[in-house]
Amino acid sequence: MGIRYARTSYTDLASFADAAFDAVVSFMALMDGPRFDPAMAECCCARAGGSPSASPTPASSPVAPGWIHDEQGVKVSRVVGHYFDPARWVERFRFADAPAEAPEFVVPRFDRTLSEYVNTLTGTGFVLKRLEEPRPSEEYCQAHPGQRGWREHAALFLHVLAEKPAEKPASDSSRPGPASPTTSR
Ligand SMILES: C[S@@+](CC[C@H](N)C(=O)[O-])C[C@H]1O[C@@H](n2cnc3c(N)ncnc32)[C@H](O)[C@@H]1O
Repeated sequence: MGIRYARTSYTDLASFADAAFDAVVSFMALMDGPRFDPAMAECCCARAGGSPSASPTPASSPVAPGWIHDEQGVKVSRVVGHYFDPARWVERFRFADAPAEAPEFVVPRFDRTLSEYVNTLTGTGFVLKRLEEPRPSEEYCQAHPGQRGWREHAALFLHVLAEKPAEKPASDSSRPGPASPTTSR
């Protein structure tokens, strides 16, 4: 069976029925859009047990981040500032190996704190199962020394695994319940 691709916003998945999917996976997208809370609410298109797994750039990468280098140009530390500042900003960058004539990337950024990510997810009703901050391997850093800072000083990614609990069956109100306790004086 082929894959059906649909183009829509992760803040509006109304075209999919609730519980239509086994799992929801988002990779490198949630940090690029506003309205994280409706995005999480829309994950109800996952079945019970389905997990939204997000991979935004981390809470440790807010506006005005930067590396401190030693005399050899090796990254020795990372500056983190404005962590709690909710202001949106626009990042402009070029990949180091891109041709000179390549246009720069212009990307809106919606930095969030770790607690905002986690509390929005759990506030939506998901149960947090696991957090990971994956880092490049030692072998990868040897082959790509410019990436070593993401192994030694700061996390580039935040991975979140959460589950939607099974819904409790509605209680049958027609059944007689236990007699209410009565008090007499
Ligand atoms: C850094 S790119 C990553 C693309 C891809 N996931 C990857 O790993 O190569 C972030 C993507 O998020 C998309 N995006 C931003 N807001 C979105 C939204 N509300 N709904 C769906 N995608 C969105 C952007 O259009 C962009 O393609």
